[in-house]
Amino acid sequence: MAPTSRASASARIDQIANHLDSKPFLELNTPFSTERSSRSEDERGNIKRPKPQEKKPEPKLQQKAELERPKKMSNQKPHPALLIPGPIEFDDAVLDSMSHHSESHVGQPFVNCFSEVLQNLRKLFQTTDPASQPFVISGSGTLGWDQVAANLVEPGDEVLVLHTGYFADSFTDCFETYGVKATQLKAPIGDRPQLDEIEKALKEKEYKMITVTHVDTSTGVLSEIKALSELVHRVSPDTLVVVDGVCSVGSEEIRFDDWKLDVVLTASQKGIGCPAGLSIMMVSGRAIERFKARKTRPTSYFGSWKNWLPIMQNYEAKKPSYFATPSPQLVHALDTSLKQILSRPLDQRFADHKAASQKVKKAVADLGLKQLASKPENQANGMTAIYLPEGITPPDVLPNLLKKGVIFAGGLHKEIATKYIRFGHMGVSVTDPERQDITAAISKLKESLADSGYKA
Ligand SMILES: Cc1ncc(COP(=O)(O)O)c(C=O)c1O
Repeated sequence: MAPTSRASASARIDQIANHLDSKPFLELNTPFSTERSSRSEDERGNIKRPKPQEKKPEPKLQQKAELERPKKMSNQKPHPALLIPGPIEFDDAVLDSMSHHSESHVGQPFVNCFSEVLQNLRKLFQTTDPASQPFVISGSGTLGWDQVAANLVEPGDEVLVLHTGYFADSFTDCFETYGVKATQLKAPIGDRPQLDEIEKALKEKEYKMITVTHVDTSTGVLSEIKALSELVHRVSPDTLVVVDGVCSVGSEEIRFDDWKLDVVLTASQKGIGCPAGLSIMMVSGRAIERFKARKTRPTSYFGSWKNWLPIMQNYEAKKPSYFATPSPQLVHALDTSLKQILSRPLDQRFADHKAASQKVKKAVADLGLKQLASKPENQANGMTAIYLPEGITPPDVLPNLLKKGVIFAGGLHKEIATKYIRFGHMGVSVTDPERQDITAAISKLKESLADSGYKA
């Protein structure tokens, strides 16, 4: 690895772990705890291993959380409610479908299931255009960035990246990895670039693509996709419109055809409510044509649509086909979660997420706290990023919340990571009336802040 990219990888890991650094405290069961204990590399790039720990306090916390949890949330082993902005809580039926017996990935039963998944993704993304192409590939949301950078642009091409937080920096880094020139249009923290600024930027240079993070998971900022796409089609009609929907698909309205989108990329573990491990995307016919007109070959092997496009087309047509082995168990889980989502009108699902989000946001305001996204129109419906009161940091409240049976995430935006926490409210925690996850988490947050000495 080149020294610069090693430095930037190390900086990214440090950044993720930042909010946990303000003082020593117990190990947390958050997605960041691994980075915190194995965070640094020596000058040769070897990972510095942490010294073996003498005592492990976390299981005690976890057991305590299990004891204190008031209500059985499902048939799963009792556990703290995972209310980070993904992965989210999973439905029993989704998890059960993963204990499917082993089967051939080219056998007809599995291929039929994959076909149904691809057809149902068309419904989830609200596309009926036969030229649109769904992709489901083993990997995470990040693989969606790689696919975009490796298939839809060529080295030296210019792209415009709208920046509403951490994930735009990572997408930019991804483009640069593939030799693509990425220009960022940055908004102040908690805001999003305004349409007139975007119009100006599009008129200054010819961009092959514009990317927007629908919900930036580091800030909870929601971008307006419909108006943005209209603007791009009017001002710069050849520019592809690419939406990072990792933290929005399943919890925010997306109308792929009506809004004339070219790519919406996402992952399985957030609003879709399936365990992590699948990169999911919808690609327009226009983008597929752009891919086919490339002058150079795709700059990835595993992520190349030269390899995957025929596979996805064959799978959807129920024809066994192979490029690289998929995960049948995860595809079964996705099949179940998509069927659950589509068993009710999508508009109802989005309205439910909005209602849950309003409840959280009102509770935050009633507590006298502010959100990073201060304007209502900028606020995501599947998560809330909450500034902590002056003098209170994430390590003051997150372990305490865990003891009370709730897991929230710390801050992720590098400039303010120690000042805020993130509350995810997506999927079954919102739509399953049997679950009290959100209501319970709101009252635990109040208690936890009071325990830290805060008076609302
Ligand atoms: C908005 C956004 N984009 C991309 C990613 C990367 O996805 P993954 O972690 O599944 O690779 C994330 C992860 O949280 C995200 O929130």
